[in-house]
Amino acid sequence: MYTEFISSEGLIRNAIKSRKKLDIFDYERPVGIQIFGGDEESLSLAAKIVDVTNPDLLDINFGCPVKKVALKGAGAGVLKDIDLMVRLTKAVVDSSSLPVTVKTRLGWDDATKNIEEVAERLQDVGIKALAIHGRTRTQMYKGEADWTLIGKIKSNSRIHIPIFGNGDIDSPEKALEYKNRYGVDGIMIGRAAIGYPWIFKEIKHYLKTNAHLPAPTLEERVEVAKTHLHKSVAWKGPIVGIYEMRRHYANYLKGLPNIKEYRQKLVTLSTVAEIDEVLDDVALAYSGYEFLKSPIELVNYHEKCPV
Ligand SMILES: Cc1cc2nc3c(=O)[nH]c(=O)nc-3n(C[C@H](O)[C@H](O)[C@H](O)COP(=O)(O)O)c2cc1C
Repeated sequence: MYTEFISSEGLIRNAIKSRKKLDIFDYERPVGIQIFGGDEESLSLAAKIVDVTNPDLLDINFGCPVKKVALKGAGAGVLKDIDLMVRLTKAVVDSSSLPVTVKTRLGWDDATKNIEEVAERLQDVGIKALAIHGRTRTQMYKGEADWTLIGKIKSNSRIHIPIFGNGDIDSPEKALEYKNRYGVDGIMIGRAAIGYPWIFKEIKHYLKTNAHLPAPTLEERVEVAKTHLHKSVAWKGPIVGIYEMRRHYANYLKGLPNIKEYRQKLVTLSTVAEIDEVLDDVALAYSGYEFLKSPIELVNYHEKCPV
């Protein structure tokens, strides 16, 4: 598990929002803190700040495709200049006492899928694991993730660090199939976990036993949505906590027929007590409902972000 990425510039400026993201709860361990930036000195200073908070590892984000990150020369923007990427990574490795890992994409665009060179050179400057999303930056979330290059890196005899594959895993079957086919040391999951955190437990169980866990009941889904809301408010305060939760209800309740009216209430109410009450109403109204299909749906999150 990793934190949401944290701006190195924000950390150095002591921005409250960035510092808050350094909070670690022991039950999250092993946990990595992820930073991003495009400047050696900032990343190096940020790495020293992260060190003090004592996570289990420090991850650098060279994969974020959104405009305000990538076009400012950070996140996936660094994929345009591999020498710079190597220098940035070395600066972090040299400044941190933690194991440093990297998360990135296949390359900037179709013509520059340089992940094989990236993997070797980043390993040479000391990273301890590499996570690869099987898309380029210009692809954003379009098309299907291409894992063939991920598999190629895994089978490169020069590579000895763990390689984690990422992109489009949304079921236990697919996790097993991709793990076997591409030989990766681990699988990283993003969108499938949004509103469906059971995915991790389900995949782990399937990999171990080849059998499926029963799907969470409606009551469990509602209970977890409520816990999520309460934790969000406890950590971020009532205004941000309630506001940020609004994007999650649709995912928790996906698959329930005629849920629109409840959903509309959930995204307009502004106290925890009122939201809890609506969630309890949902649990009551749909009690015993059997979900016909998996509620997981991989959404193109950044489709409105023009390349
Ligand atoms: C809303 C959202 C936020 C994300 N935030 C981060 C992030 O902070 N750091 C990161 O490395 N990747 C982030 N990602 C990318 C995912 O980790 C992952 O690489 C990508 O979604 C593809 O994997 P998936 O098909 O399993 O979703 C984010 C993705 C989404 C949809």
